Amino acid sequence: MITIDRERPFDKAAIEKLLDVAFGPDRFNKSSYSLRENNQPVAGLSYVARKADKIVGTVRYWPIEVRDLLGGKPVEALLLGPLAVSPSVQGQGVGAQLMHKSMASANGAGHDRILLVGDYAYYQRFGFEPVLPRYITLPGGKDARRLLVRQPATTTSLPSVGKIVVPMPEPVLVPVAGALLSDVA
Ligand SMILES: CC(C)(COP(=O)(O)OP(=O)(O)OC[C@H]1O[C@@H](n2cnc3c(N)ncnc32)[C@H](O)[C@@H]1OP(=O)(O)O)[C@@H](O)C(=O)NCCC(=O)NCCS
Repeated sequence: MITIDRERPFDKAAIEKLLDVAFGPDRFNKSSYSLRENNQPVAGLSYVARKADKIVGTVRYWPIEVRDLLGGKPVEALLLGPLAVSPSVQGQGVGAQLMHKSMASANGAGHDRILLVGDYAYYQRFGFEPVLPRYITLPGGKDARRLLVRQPATTTSLPSVGKIVVPMPEPVLVPVAGALLSDVA
């Protein structure tokens, strides 16, 4: 029996092994990986599929920001991925279960805009659409051809020309004798 539940700290090594099998040794060269460097998966949204004691599926989400290169406000989003299922159990709906459970959690936590880099032929069934004809680049200047988005029609749409970045942490403001350090600097 395969169950879907939240990733735990001791799952990390098994997940890395599964990702090596699913994506091969070149996986770190993918543009989406650079959005995961200097970034942390969103707590509570990383799910795994378990079969007995074995990890047979994984999905994670990362905070990202889409900067508007025409001067509009940046929009926050989650980057979904990697999604991987062990070849031994592919085609049994495990990927779909990971997608549905994790997206329900993400939406429940208030994240209604999800992006990913992947095959439209697979992700269309979960409500993803190409970001094209918008022109939104990934790190390294890669274009938007495989970039997909899922968001409700009522949510602010993505910029028409944009760039995806890892959000900067909020500056820490320390009050000093009635002033703020950020004012002094
Ligand atoms: C993509 C992946 C996560 C799907 O997991 P899964 O558990 O096999 O998925 P499901 O059982 O929910 O769905 C299987 C269906 O998706 C289809 N499918 C799988 N990968 C696909 C792809 N890249 N494009 C289009 N369809 C795809 C299968 O043909 C199957 O179709 P069917 O239902 O008509 O038979 C898994 O194949 C995998 O880990 N692949 C390698 C890593 C990868 O490419 N991940 C990201 C995908 S862009």
